[in-house]
Amino acid sequence: MKKRLISLALSAALVGTMLTGCTGNEGGQNPAPVDNGGAEATQAPDAGGETATSAPVAEGGKTIGIAMPTQSLERWNRDGSYLKEKFEEKGYTVQLTYSDNKIDQQVKDIEGLIADNVDLLVIAAIDGESLTQVLGDAKSNNIPVISYDRLIMGTDAISYYVSFDNYTVGKLQGQFVESSLDLANAGDKTYNIEFTAGDPADNNAGFFFNGAYDVLKPYIDKGTLVVPSGQTTFEKVATAQWDTANAMERMQNILGSYYSDGTQLDVALCSNDSTALGVTQAIGTDYAGSNTVLITGQDGDVANLANIVDGKQTMTVYKAVANEAVATIDLGVAILNGETPDASLIDNAGWSFDCAYDTSSYDNGTGVIPSYLLVPTVVTKDNIQKELVDTGYYTLDSNGYPQAN
Ligand code: BGC
Repeated sequence: MKKRLISLALSAALVGTMLTGCTGNEGGQNPAPVDNGGAEATQAPDAGGETATSAPVAEGGKTIGIAMPTQSLERWNRDGSYLKEKFEEKGYTVQLTYSDNKIDQQVKDIEGLIADNVDLLVIAAIDGESLTQVLGDAKSNNIPVISYDRLIMGTDAISYYVSFDNYTVGKLQGQFVESSLDLANAGDKTYNIEFTAGDPADNNAGFFFNGAYDVLKPYIDKGTLVVPSGQTTFEKVATAQWDTANAMERMQNILGSYYSDGTQLDVALCSNDSTALGVTQAIGTDYAGSNTVLITGQDGDVANLANIVDGKQTMTVYKAVANEAVATIDLGVAILNGETPDASLIDNAGWSFDCAYDTSSYDNGTGVIPSYLLVPTVVTKDNIQKELVDTGYYTLDSNGYPQAN
């Protein structure tokens, strides 16, 4: 891996972002074949999910098919609209689908995009294992596929993966707990912790959980951290569909079974904000204790940022989806121009955010998928202004709560 800093003016592409710097991890890559031909398409997919939108086709223009999982989890609305807006600004037509977190619906939506002859597919999968057949069709039709944020497994139709460093997201959560409680110097003091992880169908979820657990496991082994429920495996702590209500119900059960006798809960390690929201609700209604529970999250969802301002959630790991979209767009444009992007995409793009080109970490079962990995940031009440407001991602409303720009 080699690291370099590139000085440049702040990107005009999206909202104002912060420092400049790119990390390139050069190595071999094995992208799926790219067809530079491409046909026009004018219609939104007819097997629509929650929404399907399209813009008029530019003469000779190419079409990008974007398949997002659901509008019910906040971040995907931001991803979908950034990607659509920015691809359109570059003169592409965009077909955007949301599939209501229904696997069959997403397969149908992608079939529709292929039938409409899109030139490039950008897909955030609901279930990383369920797209093998439909993406076989994409490959037969020479449509390159960018796996967006979540790695799509078991298909060689994927050209590239764009995401944040998912293991680091979990690691940041674990390290936050470690340093906040000063676990290394805890002596005989013990703390009670419960884990809530994400959707087993999402390849990211295991990375997040492992990143956090690997930091905290030595303290569990030592007895500094105690898990009264005994639930410490990913399978036990996973949350189907990352659903807030599922996370809430599970935490209510845990509180009822293991904490109703006055046992103090110190930490609720939650992999993301939608689960943190449910856990916070459960603690609000069903926890007998009066201490402030340290609650982690990820994404910077508006409701969670309000909870952070109010002291109900302690931190979130923020991932600037605007930057993820910029990387995806520059990658997509390079692919459509017939290039075979590698680390040099980062060198040449002049992005105003850190990004690593990784050719070893993400094997989808058919081989390693070349990946562009962005860098997440810890956000707490103390740095909301600096990390989210001063950077232009959010504005504070009249009550001091961050609203996404
Ligand atoms: C994303 C997270 C998100 C979760 C639920 C994951 O794949 O990386 O940012 O919180 O899905 O939407």
